Amino acid sequence: MKALIQELVEAYGPSGHEGTVRNLIRRHVEPLCDEVRVDAMGNLIALKRGDGSGRRVMLAAHMDEIGVIVSHVDEKGFLRFGTVGGVRPTQVLGTRVLFGNGQQGTIGQEQPASPDEKPSFDKMFIDVGAPNKEALTVGVGDVACFQRPFADLGQRLMSKAMDDRIGCAVLVQALRDLKPSPHDVYFVFTVQEEVGLRGAVTSAYGVAPEVGIALDVTIAADTPEAAHMNMALGKGPCIKVKDGGMLAHPGVKNLMVATAQRLGIPYQLEVLLGGTTDAMAMQTSQAGVAAGTISVATRYVHSPSEMVDYDDVLNSVKLLVGILSAPIVL
Ligand code: CO
Ligand code: ZN
Repeated sequence: MKALIQELVEAYGPSGHEGTVRNLIRRHVEPLCDEVRVDAMGNLIALKRGDGSGRRVMLAAHMDEIGVIVSHVDEKGFLRFGTVGGVRPTQVLGTRVLFGNGQQGTIGQEQPASPDEKPSFDKMFIDVGAPNKEALTVGVGDVACFQRPFADLGQRLMSKAMDDRIGCAVLVQALRDLKPSPHDVYFVFTVQEEVGLRGAVTSAYGVAPEVGIALDVTIAADTPEAAHMNMALGKGPCIKVKDGGMLAHPGVKNLMVATAQRLGIPYQLEVLLGGTTDAMAMQTSQAGVAAGTISVATRYVHSPSEMVDYDDVLNSVKLLVGILSAPIVL
C-alpha cells in the first residue's frame, strides 16, 4: 500500500479544496464500484452493492487536511493568515506551505520581544519570496497546506496529512480486498472534517446508513511524557470506545473486538481524551445510526510530520474487510 499512501499524503487538499485528492481516489475506486457520485458538498460516495441480505453500511474517511488561509497582504508582499482546522502555532514556524496553484512559501514571524515569547499566529506571516506585492500569485482567500514529502522509514511511515489520507488509503485497499459482501457498502470520502465534520453531516444524511464506521487517525500516547492514554504505534488498529465527541455504539465496538479476535488481528481499545471523527456526525444523523471508529494510532497529529506504523495500517484493512465480509449482528 505504500505507493498508494504516498500518492494520497503528498496531494494538496486543505478543507474546502479536496478536488485533487478526490480525483486521485475516484480513479482508484471507480473500476471497483457499482456506483460513484459526488454530492453538492464535494463528498465522493462510492457504492459496492451486496447480495441483498445484509445491512446498509457507511464507511467514512476524510479527504481534507488542515491548512492556513490568507487574510491580508501587506505592501511588501508578506501574507497574514488564519487557520483552517486545528493548526497550532508551535508546529508551523519554518515549515513550508504549498498553495493550490503550486506556489510555495515558508512561515516566518516578527522579532519576538523576548526569547521566551510564545509563538502566536498574529505575529506570523507567509513569505512566498515575492520581490513585491505585484509579483504575488496568491492573495486573500487562497489556502495552503503543509508541504512535506512522504518518508518511508521501513516499519513507520511519516508525512503531512496522514490525518486522514491514511484512512482514505485503508478504504481504497479494503475495497480492493473485499470479496462479495452481504452488505450494501458506501465508501464515503468526506470533505471539511477538520472544520467541523461538515461533509460527514450531509453525506450521512444522504446515504442514511444503518451502521456507520469512520476510519481516522487517533493520538498515539507512546512518546516521552505523553498524555495518559492507551494508544501506541504497532499494537494494532484502535477500536474506539469514546472520544471528545461520541461514545461508540457498544454493538459496533463489540463487533470490532469480536472480529479482531476471530481473525487473530491485534487491536487496542481507544479512549481519546479530546477530538472526534466523522463517526460523531454519522451517529447523530437522521433518527440515529449505530456508529463506531477504527483508528490508526498516529504520533504528532496535526504537525507536518505525522507518523504511523505500517502494520497498523495493514491490520486496519484486514479488520475492516473482516467486518464487511460477515453478517452484522449488533
Ligand atoms: Co485532524
Ligand atoms: Zn482526521
